[in-house]
Amino acid sequence: MKKTRVAVIGAGPAGLLLAHLLHREGISVVVLEAKSRAYLETSPHRIRAGVMEWGTREIMVQVGLGEGLLRNGYEHRGIYLAYAGELHRIDFPSLAQGWRIWVYGQQYQVRDMIARFLEEGGKIFFEYEVVGLADLETTPKIRFRTPEGEEGELEAEFVVGADGSHSRTRGFIPGLVLKEKTYPFAWLGILAETAPAAEELIYASHPRGFALFSMRSPTLARNYLQVRPDENLDEWPEERIWEELNLRLGGVAQVKPGPLLEKSLTPHRAYVAEPMQHGRLFLVGDAAHVVPPTGAKGMNLAVADAVALFQALWAFYRKGAESGLKRHTETCREHVWQGEFFSYWMTSLLHTQPDPFIEGLRQAELKQVLTSEALKRFLAENYTGRHTTGRWVGLWT
Ligand code: FAD
Ligand code: DHB
Repeated sequence: MKKTRVAVIGAGPAGLLLAHLLHREGISVVVLEAKSRAYLETSPHRIRAGVMEWGTREIMVQVGLGEGLLRNGYEHRGIYLAYAGELHRIDFPSLAQGWRIWVYGQQYQVRDMIARFLEEGGKIFFEYEVVGLADLETTPKIRFRTPEGEEGELEAEFVVGADGSHSRTRGFIPGLVLKEKTYPFAWLGILAETAPAAEELIYASHPRGFALFSMRSPTLARNYLQVRPDENLDEWPEERIWEELNLRLGGVAQVKPGPLLEKSLTPHRAYVAEPMQHGRLFLVGDAAHVVPPTGAKGMNLAVADAVALFQALWAFYRKGAESGLKRHTETCREHVWQGEFFSYWMTSLLHTQPDPFIEGLRQAELKQVLTSEALKRFLAENYTGRHTTGRWVGLWT
């Protein structure tokens, strides 16, 4: 491992999708990943997204990464909003030109993509941590530490920073500005062996706080509670979590306690890093932007970035065109800010706000969403991904 055309740092959804797309075009690519394969595929710390936009589902299927998700995932044609003891359904196909969503865990998709990439002769170096970059304007060098603790160097024509929200590669972009927002809440998340609250996701707005009822399968529930960012998880024994989830459902459904497989706290924040590039280094996914989780946009934005950068690299290698690479930041800025906007909107709409005036406005807005066809359409179009992966689905058809 001395030289490659494209070096991808990070084997998350963004890095793996890009690497797969380049490899199947015969463009040499090497993936360096700090963690082990087992950690990525099985660690409870890597249980993340559960909802794919229709565009993400279509892209995965069209490029040959859809076998697992088609076999083991679920089509959902709507979500529920719960408010004041009533359930309101948002019907996606009728509101969003036939679009809907696909429920399949990100960790399963990552496992599928690793297996496929390796089967096809792709190169992933697990437990290789990237520690530095150099010569990004000429011939990039990537310095890494091997599992044995030795240092080595890889030379590449392009470097892709797909190294997630704690990105180290982001630090190599001079003049980078991080546009940030923090939120006064976090999610306490659980994964439990029990039936989900309903056959589709329920987003519940309750005076005690927001709660989300999601799933991975008909016997695996994934639920979240709005809590303070500094919440102490020790104060949440299992019985208290189940009781609170049921209170926040407000009587519209019931969850039955089951064995907990995971319990975690995710503080909410958002940022966009601009520019997303310098010389021959390009950022994709969480390395460049993070959204609060309510709109289920994070993984989908990572997929949109990977497709956008693939298109630019393909044009460079096949046609000698550099313009797509030069415009990487501008190209991604379009779907990134649409995703940030919707995530901000849906977070503000559904979470109980500490400021009583803002809380009054929030409830007024929610009542409009529940009764207005136009606002339901707005929610459905954004949730299913019209302005994010929706921009990119046509490429392989
Ligand atoms: P990551 O998945 O973070 O991958 C980055 C990889 O880079 C990691 O494997 C990491 O180990 C590796 N790495 C880091 N540093 C180095 C280094 N120096 N050298 C080598 N490798 C390195 N999104 C949705 O779309 N829908 C949802 O429903 C949703 N729910 C979520 C729920 C939770 C609780 C959380 C935490 C996130 C959720 N997200 C959701 C967001 C989504 O998980 C992320 O946006 C997504 O993981 C981003 O993918 P990525 O490839 O950019 O980064
Ligand atoms: C899940 C996470 C989300 O952030 C969301 O909006 C919907 C579902 C999940 O983990 O299932």
